[in-house]
Amino acid sequence: MTPAYLFARRERLSAALAPSDALLVIGAGEPVPLPEGSDQTYPYRAHAEYVFAAGSECPGGVVAYDPRERAAGWRSFVPPLTEAERVWCGSQPREGEDVAGFAAWLDARKGRSIAALGAPVPGVNADAAATDAARLTYAEVRRPKDAHELDLLGRAVAATTAGFARLPDLIRPGVTERTLQIELEVAFSHAGANRTGYGTIVGAGPNAAVLHFEPSNRAVAPGDFVLVDAGAEVERYVADVTRTYVAGTPTGFQRDLHAAVRHAQENAIARCVPGAEWKQIHLATAVDLTAGLVAMGILRGRPESLVEQEVHALFFPHGLGHLVGLGVRDASGLARGRTRDPRPSLRSLRMDLPLADGFVVTVEPGLYFIPALLQDPVRRDRHRDTVNWSLVDAHLKIGGVRIEDDVLVRAGAPEVLTAGIPKALD
Ligand code: GLY
Ligand code: MN
Ligand code: MN
Repeated sequence: MTPAYLFARRERLSAALAPSDALLVIGAGEPVPLPEGSDQTYPYRAHAEYVFAAGSECPGGVVAYDPRERAAGWRSFVPPLTEAERVWCGSQPREGEDVAGFAAWLDARKGRSIAALGAPVPGVNADAAATDAARLTYAEVRRPKDAHELDLLGRAVAATTAGFARLPDLIRPGVTERTLQIELEVAFSHAGANRTGYGTIVGAGPNAAVLHFEPSNRAVAPGDFVLVDAGAEVERYVADVTRTYVAGTPTGFQRDLHAAVRHAQENAIARCVPGAEWKQIHLATAVDLTAGLVAMGILRGRPESLVEQEVHALFFPHGLGHLVGLGVRDASGLARGRTRDPRPSLRSLRMDLPLADGFVVTVEPGLYFIPALLQDPVRRDRHRDTVNWSLVDAHLKIGGVRIEDDVLVRAGAPEVLTAGIPKALD
C-alpha cells in the first residue's frame, strides 16, 4: 500500500512532469563493497532522487513512471530477498514488484524516450535532454517540503538540539576536538538519530577558520574559539547547525566578531520570505558582515562599496547557505534558465533562486581569519588600502565564527527550526 504522503508526492511529480511524454526511471544504486574481501560495504545511502519517489531506501531498487498512465503509472521494483541476506543480515521482505519484471516493463514501452534519474540502472538507454529536463522539474518539486518531510526534519532537529545541549559543559581547556565530536554524536544517537548527516566539524583555535575541519586530537586552549558544525540524520532527513563558542571568557575582539556574525545572521533570517532572491540575501548579508568589520577597524570604507570590490570574500569566502532536508545540500542549484554568476565571490554560491513557501534553507554567515587567503601577497596588494593589515596580522591565529540555523520559509514570517540551540556567547 502506498502511504498517503507518497501518493500525494507522486501526484505532484506527475503534474509537474506532465508536459513530457518521457518515461522516468530512478535507480536507488547498489552498495559499494569495501576492498579486501571484508564482506562489508560502505554505509549505504540510496540516491536522494530515489528516496523521494520511493519513500525509503532499497539497494538495487528502481522506481519507474509512465506519464501516459498518470497515478497508475508509478511502479516500484525491488530485488527479491536472497537467502544470504536473510541469514547474514536478517533482512525483511520489501514492498514492491520483483525487479526482474522491470525489463518487461521497459520492453513494453520500446522506442519511448527515457529520463534517467538517481543512480544508473543497467539496460536503460537514457535520453540526455529528457534527463536534464526531468532532473530540473524533479528538483523544483522536491524544494518545498511536505508535512511528512517536515516531521522527519523535526526529529533530526530534535536530536541535533540534544547533541548541542551537551557542548557548553564540555567545552573547557584541555578537552580535545575529537572528544567533543564523540560526545555530540553519542547524544545525537541517544536522541533518535540514525547517524550524522555529514562529517562533524569541530575546530578549536586556528582550526575554527578551516571551513570543513575534521576534528583532531588538538586540546582546546584557554580562550580558543571552538566552532562546531554538525547535524543528526533521521531516515535520510538532515539538520545542519553551526555554533561558535569560546573556552573561557571571550576577549572584546572575540565578542565583536561573534556579534557581527550574529547580527548579520539574524538580519539574513528575517529576509528569508517567499519571493526573496537568495543571491540578494547573500549580498545584503555580505554588506552587514562588512559593516561589522568596518566597525571593528579591520576594514576601511563604505560597506556597499567594499562588497562591490569583493573585499568581504577575504573574511567570508563561502555562500550564505543552501537548501537542507533530504541530504545536507537537498535540491539546491539554479532556478530554471539561470547560469552561474561569474563574479569570483558569487560563482560558488550553492544556489541562485527565489525562495518559496515551504523551502528549508540554512543561513550560515561566517567571518574567519584564514591564513591561506590573508597571507596571499596578491590579495594583500589588491586590498592594501581597504584592509587594516596590521590588525589582521595580530589576529591571524584567532580562527573564526560561523553561526548556522535551518530556516523554514513561510508566507508570514520565517520559522527557525533550530531556534532551540542557543547561540549567545556566554
Ligand atoms: N555542514 C556543511 C555546511 O554547512 O554546508
Ligand atoms: Mn553546516
Ligand atoms: Mn550548511
